[in-house]
Amino acid sequence: MDFLEVPTIKKKQFVIGNFLTGESKHEIIADIYKGLTAKQKYISSRFFYDDNGSLLFEKITELPEYYPTRTEKSILKGIVSEIIGNSEQLNIIELGSGDCSKISILLDTVSKSKLNHIRYIPVDISEAAIMKSAGFLAVKYPGLKIHGLLADFMKHLTTLPGEGNRLICFFGSTLGNLTRRQATAFLLDIKTLMRPGDRFLLGLDMVKDIDIVEAAYNDKQGVTALFNKNILNVINEYAQTNFNPNDFKHIAFYNAEKARIEMHLMSTTDVVIRSADFPERVFLKKGETIHTENSHKFTDADIQNFATATGLKIENIYSDKNQWFSLVNFK
Ligand code: AVI
Repeated sequence: MDFLEVPTIKKKQFVIGNFLTGESKHEIIADIYKGLTAKQKYISSRFFYDDNGSLLFEKITELPEYYPTRTEKSILKGIVSEIIGNSEQLNIIELGSGDCSKISILLDTVSKSKLNHIRYIPVDISEAAIMKSAGFLAVKYPGLKIHGLLADFMKHLTTLPGEGNRLICFFGSTLGNLTRRQATAFLLDIKTLMRPGDRFLLGLDMVKDIDIVEAAYNDKQGVTALFNKNILNVINEYAQTNFNPNDFKHIAFYNAEKARIEMHLMSTTDVVIRSADFPERVFLKKGETIHTENSHKFTDADIQNFATATGLKIENIYSDKNQWFSLVNFK
């Protein structure tokens, strides 16, 4: 399906293409069941982001302990003019755009008369997040063209618009939520779709002191715990299961060997999960965990390895003074 041919939700100032309509619910529920019956039970982290999950994630990004968003934004502020440049026509594609707050940092530097030379393409699986942020940006930046894509950037990369100069942004270290192999495959896909003149800006959370990282995923206000448990509400809604989030405890720890934060939900009691769409009931013993997320942290060597493995050329690596976070500009 082509970018402009998909079903669209038309609003006055912007248009949203919906690529998610073709997904088979049956296959997705089969995948959920597979995860819940694996030796180490798991639920894919893609289920975090229903409307409530997206709101909780926005709250996480404002927590004092959650340094990645703040740090990335501060780096971005220092490099905006270099990144935006003087291109006459620019397509800014943001993969996993969420609340679009980072793109505002870029757009704030563009003069009003030049805004109509820019098309912003937020790509996200949350319709609520895209609608809210597209509406906000349309008012804040009159003249800016917005064409949101309700899509899964892991599956629908080839549907990105092809024309003009493109700046593809993948902020927030979302790459870290993929396995290392998936991350390399994803970057290879990006490399394949890039043409001369295109740029790819990638945000990566770097390896650092364990206490700092663990605190970021175990905040004092318990927002990350709510975010983690909300995945069970999403599964209940989607697969008509009977999870009670109160039967589970939020666990997040740094796995040094794999250089990643792991989030789990630990059952505080024996639990039986039912769904008319599951072939059988699912049993969880007290103390058993469901693995819900990996958040990999990176080193300079990882960045070089990604470049070598994919053929992406590193133009610049920007970092904060503590080297907690990096923005890599590939071409
Ligand atoms: C979206 N992603 C990069 C976040 C992260 O840090 O891995 C998701 C998150 N999970 C818990 N807190 C934030």
